[in-house]
Amino acid sequence: MKAGFIQTHNLTKVYDGITCALDNVNLTIEEGDWVSLTGPSGSGKTTLLNMIGCLDKPTDGSVVIDGTLVTNLNQNQLTRFRREMIGLIFQQHYLIPYLTALENVLIAMYYHSIVDENEAIEALTKVGLRSRLNHKSSKLSGGEQQRVCIARALINEPKILVADEPTGNLDQKNGQVVMDLISDLHKEGHTILIVTHNLEIAKQGNKILQMVDGKVS
Ligand SMILES: Nc1ncnc2c1ncn2[C@@H]1O[C@H](COP(=O)(O)OP(=O)(O)O)[C@@H](O)[C@H]1O
Ligand SMILES: [Mg+2]
Repeated sequence: MKAGFIQTHNLTKVYDGITCALDNVNLTIEEGDWVSLTGPSGSGKTTLLNMIGCLDKPTDGSVVIDGTLVTNLNQNQLTRFRREMIGLIFQQHYLIPYLTALENVLIAMYYHSIVDENEAIEALTKVGLRSRLNHKSSKLSGGEQQRVCIARALINEPKILVADEPTGNLDQKNGQVVMDLISDLHKEGHTILIVTHNLEIAKQGNKILQMVDGKVS
């Protein structure tokens, strides 16, 4: 196991020159960790996930992931790195409602240039949706839609899963199904970084970090 799998150094993000969303964050996440990130609304959780998830660039400081200084990558390199390393799961589903579960995963594969229907079916089977492949995503329950998103995030077997309040829109039962899946993925060796307001969920992690005013404690 490599030390310092994900590291941030003095990571700072200032929006529009005024809002300091991240304030000199120094963070180390080891390979195979499950890190739960909590904290009040507006404290910078999503901003931190976006930096580690390679969706956005910091104003200052750096992010190193698996030995790569991602802050040095240009936009194309960053996108490629993200596709290979990181699976993203959001609170909102961002599924295309009039496409089926299978088609939604295939579309994501298209962006990875590896469209393979069998692999898509395998990913959906893994999240327990074998019998829902051809359902339009608008006809799936909230929990099932979130499971499609997890299947989609698993394309390319990313080492890191970044989830921003993945159960935020789900009832208790569906939330549990989604969390059980994430827990299985952790056991398989994926490194997990999850934002949650739910203490029970946070406690499943081996590290709980609290964000306040752009700082991590
Ligand atoms: N794209 C943006 N442009 C300007 N300000 C933003 C943007 N995204 C977030 N912010 C601000 O940065 C701060 C942190 O936001 P965010 O990271 O979304 O917090 P959290 O996820 O903890 O609720 C907030 O003050 C928010 O209003
Ligand atoms: Mg947020």
